[in-house]
Amino acid sequence: MQQTLIETAARVLQDNWQGGFTIPCEGLYPFQWNWDSGFIALGWGHLNMERAKAELRSLLKGQWKNGFLPHIVFHNESESYFPGPEVWDVGRSPNAPEAKTSGITQPPVLGFVLEFLYELSGEAFLDFAGEVFPALFRWHEYFYTCRDPEGEGLVYICHNWEAGTDNTPVWDGIWEGLDSPEYLLNRRDTQHVDAANRPSNREYQHYIHLVELFKSWEYDDAKIAESSPFLIQDPLFNALLIRSNEGLIRMGNLLGRQDEVDQLQRWQERSLSHFHRKLYSPAQKAYVYYDLRAQQQLQAVSSSSFVPLFAGIPGADTAREIARAHFEGGRFSGASGDFYLCASFDPTSPAFDPKRYWRGPVWINLNWLLYHGFLRYGFTDLAAQVRTDTLELLEACGFYEYFDPRRALPAGEFRGYGGNNFSWSAALCLDLLKRKPS
Ligand code: DGY
Repeated sequence: MQQTLIETAARVLQDNWQGGFTIPCEGLYPFQWNWDSGFIALGWGHLNMERAKAELRSLLKGQWKNGFLPHIVFHNESESYFPGPEVWDVGRSPNAPEAKTSGITQPPVLGFVLEFLYELSGEAFLDFAGEVFPALFRWHEYFYTCRDPEGEGLVYICHNWEAGTDNTPVWDGIWEGLDSPEYLLNRRDTQHVDAANRPSNREYQHYIHLVELFKSWEYDDAKIAESSPFLIQDPLFNALLIRSNEGLIRMGNLLGRQDEVDQLQRWQERSLSHFHRKLYSPAQKAYVYYDLRAQQQLQAVSSSSFVPLFAGIPGADTAREIARAHFEGGRFSGASGDFYLCASFDPTSPAFDPKRYWRGPVWINLNWLLYHGFLRYGFTDLAAQVRTDTLELLEACGFYEYFDPRRALPAGEFRGYGGNNFSWSAALCLDLLKRKPS
């Protein structure tokens, strides 16, 4: 079984390779995406390290003059995706690069990806690490100088696409309060996959409304921080920033970049001193999102709520509390193990939808983060469970984008949804199967 999975996963990456970078999947996502590329590079690291390096170099071609790293780099032309570069129109910003890009970012995974790749190839990797380290440092510098208006080391996201968990029910309430224009949108995603498994048209109108606002402010961070109706401190995003700081600190030490390491450590201390206090909800026994506009926590639990384990943020007692409440016969496992780990949204919530994108389905990258998070706290049974569930889903269905978490499905229903031959599903499967325990 393992050999077949490895071979099929390698074929997926090979087919999605564009000679310089890897698309997430054909049709639905025809360009280079930021956090996809980080996870994809981990997969390439097991097959062909030169491709892993090329993947990261290509992504960095999209870096803006102020260090910002956008969520899409449009290296090529394609009519199969909306919104394309003309909608983003990032030339309005004085910071825009020569490359065509989007104007928002995505969760910062590259710092820890660099460290994981180094673990695969050792000393031989340091030349490349030294080449990209300054760009990654500048990206983190951008976050701490432009995205942390309260000086807490907790950066904001200003668009739901920045979260990566695009249509999670966490922000349903924010959309309800928004009076976005009813744009006529030329959506392409629903031409590739079932519209019932994607965000609704009304949600897309809110997404585009935010883009139009940012354009009208020339993508100026100060104006966005002041006026964006969507301004959130996200536990997944901030935990990955912290884990990436950790990766960059380790790599910076190996590279002898003392000044940058000192600065990263100062940011790290600031982040860690506020994270738990501001984002932990004792009522939910989980990390939650903080709405900077409403100045309150959003009390919904999603798979993002558990990503702080990956970054070593909770103390041992809190980590145990989280595991007990949600995984050991708790909300996300179900009382009798009714769900594959890990649903992307609380299965006990009325908003849970096991088929619709980030409103319930299992995602392989979140499972990979949880697997390493559980290992970090010595929760070996849970780590084994999430690994087994992941491989079982991939084996039964193929390398889909997301999966129905209900173990018992109505007869005849297939549980793989969204794009097929999805690159990060393949890349992280390779990493789960081939990485030696450290
Ligand atoms: C999409 O188009 O669905 C992406 O997630 C946005 O980056």
